[in-house]
Amino acid sequence: MKIVLASRNQHKIAEWQATLGKYIDGVQLLSLDDAGIFEEIEENGKTFEENAFIKARTAAKSGYVSIGEDSGLAVTALDGEPGVYSARYAGGHGNDGANNALLLQKLKGKADRSAKFVCAIACVFPEDMARDVCVRGETEGVILEELRGEGGFGYDPLFLYEPEGKTFAEMNGEEKNAISHRGKAIALLAKELKKINER
Ligand code: IMP
Repeated sequence: MKIVLASRNQHKIAEWQATLGKYIDGVQLLSLDDAGIFEEIEENGKTFEENAFIKARTAAKSGYVSIGEDSGLAVTALDGEPGVYSARYAGGHGNDGANNALLLQKLKGKADRSAKFVCAIACVFPEDMARDVCVRGETEGVILEELRGEGGFGYDPLFLYEPEGKTFAEMNGEEKNAISHRGKAIALLAKELKKINER
């Protein structure tokens, strides 16, 4: 089964291939480029789910079953910020250093430092919209006052996963996948795809 992941990042495609491949025999993940979709995708949804569907529907123009993923951090004391703006919180897209600095500044003096990572994954079936599904994985944690750890990306060095006493940046890929918002969402998606396959 070929599935398009709405991304141009080969690293992400490889990660998904490894993870989803564990659940679905013979799955082959294609990037947007592999599938011949070259348009820019505007992520202008108000929720993670909306953005996930925007990405998946664009990818589905290829005619293949397509997946869109949107993720981010929601901080309780900031009413869910940075939310869907996680990648561009401090302005430019994907400036992790500036995003982390802004988050620390906004949380200065706040007693409640709880937060959660959220990952929404939409899967679109171009020939049968009734089968479209969306799943969500969440992982709760605490925002530290300074960065800890060298691994990961984004807000990982500030996100303490309390049950293990480690930030996401102090975990290796496998450890993080086992408890992360993304790992949970992918597992849920695999379950849904299996159900659909058995219908
Ligand atoms: P997306 O690529 O539009 O889904 O944006 C995701 C953004 O949310 C990233 O650029 C990060 O800032 C943040 N984010 C999502 N998942 C993670 C994670 O697992 N660790 C750290 N930051 C994350």
